[in-house]
Amino acid sequence: MVAVRKTALITGCSAGGVGAAIAEVFQEHGYHVFATARTPSKVPQTLHAASNVTVMSLDVMSVDSIAAAAEQVAKQAGKLDVLINNAGLGLNAPVLDTPLKEAKQLFDLNFFGPMAMLQSFGPLLIKAKGCVVNISSVGGAINFPFSSIYNASKAALIQGSETWRLELAPLGVRTITLMTGGIATSFFSNMRTLPIPESSNYYGIKSIIEENPDQNPYGMEPKAFATQLLRHVERGASGKIWLGGGVAMARMLLWLSPSSAVVSIHIRHRISSTEDWLTVNIGWIGRKTEAILQSIG
Ligand SMILES: NC(=O)c1ccc[n+]([C@@H]2O[C@H](COP(=O)([O-])OP(=O)(O)OC[C@H]3O[C@@H](n4cnc5c(N)ncnc54)[C@H](OP(=O)(O)O)[C@@H]3O)[C@@H](O)[C@H]2O)c1
Repeated sequence: MVAVRKTALITGCSAGGVGAAIAEVFQEHGYHVFATARTPSKVPQTLHAASNVTVMSLDVMSVDSIAAAAEQVAKQAGKLDVLINNAGLGLNAPVLDTPLKEAKQLFDLNFFGPMAMLQSFGPLLIKAKGCVVNISSVGGAINFPFSSIYNASKAALIQGSETWRLELAPLGVRTITLMTGGIATSFFSNMRTLPIPESSNYYGIKSIIEENPDQNPYGMEPKAFATQLLRHVERGASGKIWLGGGVAMARMLLWLSPSSAVVSIHIRHRISSTEDWLTVNIGWIGRKTEAILQSIG
């Protein structure tokens, strides 16, 4: 059994991602960390080598894998103080060209994954009077063309998380819903871009849709992000926390826009020779989509 140390379990700790940075920061602050990944060899060597880290295999889309991990944590620690539902991927495709199966799989990962984790680790969290952090996205609150399935899965997570918060509070468990902005990880290069078929209405702007930066140029450094997250967990935060690059702007745009307006952040050409790759528009519903459609014409 891990003695009286606080314990934290993080999903999706592959090197280079924010999960690994969170595991690193929590272990540096004295937690016993269960650093999990569907491919444990992708977890950084520093975490494998740390005495207060247990690297474990965990695929959040497999109930058997989740159950085995919960059993191991129960045996090893008997409780869980912090569960961080971090694992998640993007999907870049127009809705008209997205097979339903792909969309459902993304919900399995980004929404049902955190829900299944909460169900299995709930008893250990209740025992510790712990905290669950659900890493959602500003994409769950803002409309980005060609990101509808990802954004919808993250919006579902926001609603799920904020409602679970009400159900878990009487059991002594805190819930943080992370409204995550940019983090400088390989999120965009790991994101799946579906092939745009020649028959697609969007074939003419295929290259615009397919263009993704290797790294989010507005992203916060993963370690800085993880350090701020730790502070929120330690100060006893609950509810929505906005954290990451561009969140102040996103909040301002959401505040400015009436319900009938749409804030559209559209991935398009790099602007001139700068590293900018986002154009931000506040417009009436469909303004950006209309522009896209005109450009197809
Ligand atoms: N980076 C950003 O700007 C940004 C912004 C908003 C929200 N977020 C959210 O932050 C979280 C972490 O993203 P990131 O930026 O660190 O991207 P990332 O580097 O692509 O990390 C994604 C992680 O999820 C893991 N994963 C995927 N499917 C899994 C499964 N079935 N079971 C367990 N793990 C699985 C990946 O493992 P493999 O290596 O095995 O694929 C990887 O470790 C995601 O939920 C993402 O939506 C990121």
